[in-house]
Amino acid sequence: MIRRSQLYVPAISEKMIRKSVELNADSIIFDLEDAVAPEDKEKARDLLVKLLKELDWGKRELCVRINSLQLIESYKDIATIGKEDKINCIVIPKAENDLSFLYMATGKFLIPLIETAKGMTKIEDIARSEGVSAISYGIADLSLSLGGDYTYYEKNEFVKTQIVITAKTYGVDAIDKVYFDLKNLEGFRMECEEAKKLGYLGKQVIHPSQIDIANQIFSPSKEEMEWAKRVIEAYEKAKIEGKGATRLDDKLVDYVHYKIAKKIIEFQNS
Ligand code: COA
Ligand code: MG
Repeated sequence: MIRRSQLYVPAISEKMIRKSVELNADSIIFDLEDAVAPEDKEKARDLLVKLLKELDWGKRELCVRINSLQLIESYKDIATIGKEDKINCIVIPKAENDLSFLYMATGKFLIPLIETAKGMTKIEDIARSEGVSAISYGIADLSLSLGGDYTYYEKNEFVKTQIVITAKTYGVDAIDKVYFDLKNLEGFRMECEEAKKLGYLGKQVIHPSQIDIANQIFSPSKEEMEWAKRVIEAYEKAKIEGKGATRLDDKLVDYVHYKIAKKIIEFQNS
């Protein structure tokens, strides 16, 4: 599953749901949580069910962000979307515990969001739950839970790295958080580049203008593709000569570089 961009679409907005069909985000996340006012939850569920029947998003992943499992509202969300075949995946905000029950009950893949102090502490229990396919995090809620300042936490390398380490440990995708400043596309691009360097495979986005940038950054660049082809060629030639390591542009190339290069080519071909 390629998840370079995951677009949040408020489930209460008919206009945005319709618009999302023509946008090229890899995944769509219909939001029933914070983008829907408490008094509109029922209306949003009804609207989503109606439009899911009518519209066609093609083959891409369709997700629903439910309300927090601490709230009764979430069980109404689960009962509703559990019956919707077009929905492949459930995004769980403020995840704090094992989520296997949710996969067993619905058969849908799970993307937990780490966004509380307890969620950070229990991140391993969450990530290794059955059905988890990716993890992401929310920095505004996390800093609220910690009593900190979100503009400061936005840059926190510990949180960002911990998410990737745990995701890789349990073989699930790490997807970077949303970027709130809609006007600052340069800042958004920089945050995508930094996330990619840490090992993230994509970004959650909130506006159409962010989609193409995320898709571009989280795809292999021309330079990466060229590097990968040359590394594969050099390594395979060395292997025939009975060597496990070789020299390319005055840099060491061994099995680990070969594996990285293979991964880049595989992504491009997928
Ligand atoms: N999904 C689908 N379409 C979207 C969209 C989204 N997330 N955000 C904007 N659009 C559409 C608008 O409807 C508009 O369509 P039009 O050109 O056909 O009229 C177009 O893209 C341009 O939008 P723009 O006017 O620049 O944005 P806005 O001021 O109407 O909306 C937000 C700004 C932030 C309110 C809106 O982008 C949004 O609701 N984003 C998602 C928020 C969310 O889900 N949050 C929860 C997770 S953090
Ligand atoms: Mg949140």
